[in-house]
Amino acid sequence: MKHSRGGQSAPPFTGGLMSRVSGLINWTLLVGLAALCWPSTGMADISPDRERALRHLLVQDCGSCHGMTLQGGLGPALTRTALAGKPAIMLREVILHGRPGTPMPPWNTFMSEAEADWLVQLLLNGASP
Ligand code: HEC
Repeated sequence: MKHSRGGQSAPPFTGGLMSRVSGLINWTLLVGLAALCWPSTGMADISPDRERALRHLLVQDCGSCHGMTLQGGLGPALTRTALAGKPAIMLREVILHGRPGTPMPPWNTFMSEAEADWLVQLLLNGASP
């Protein structure tokens, strides 16, 4: 009877090295992707045209409820003092999704998240339309 050598697996060295190399490649890819995505998670570039449109929206549309000078009306004042201490993330969510059960409508079909962030910063810094 012959001793069978069939089914012998590759030396552990090769397998270990290969998986370590491919792990390294995955890791590099991940870091590379993260670096690529990074700028889009920060303050996005909004064109001057779009900024003008958003300012116009703020006065015309938001102003119809929050007051032309944002001092308040049907909706609360959106001045710097009125918003002081309110978290930007909360304000962003209100603008994008509205406040259910109140007249505050969602605006996510009119602006991107980055644009809502931009509006929030404008308001927190004191928008003076
Ligand atoms: C139809 C009226 C209406 C329009 C238009 C409107 N809002 Fe509002 N908004 C409200 C009301 C009412 C509230 C208060 C909701 C509540 O009772 O919590 C509110 C709340 C908010 C808040 C939260 C304020 C706080 O102190 O918590 C923000 C921010 C806001 N609106 C921004 C905007 C922006 C920006 C626009 C325009 C893109 C806009 N709103 C358009 C009615 C409106």
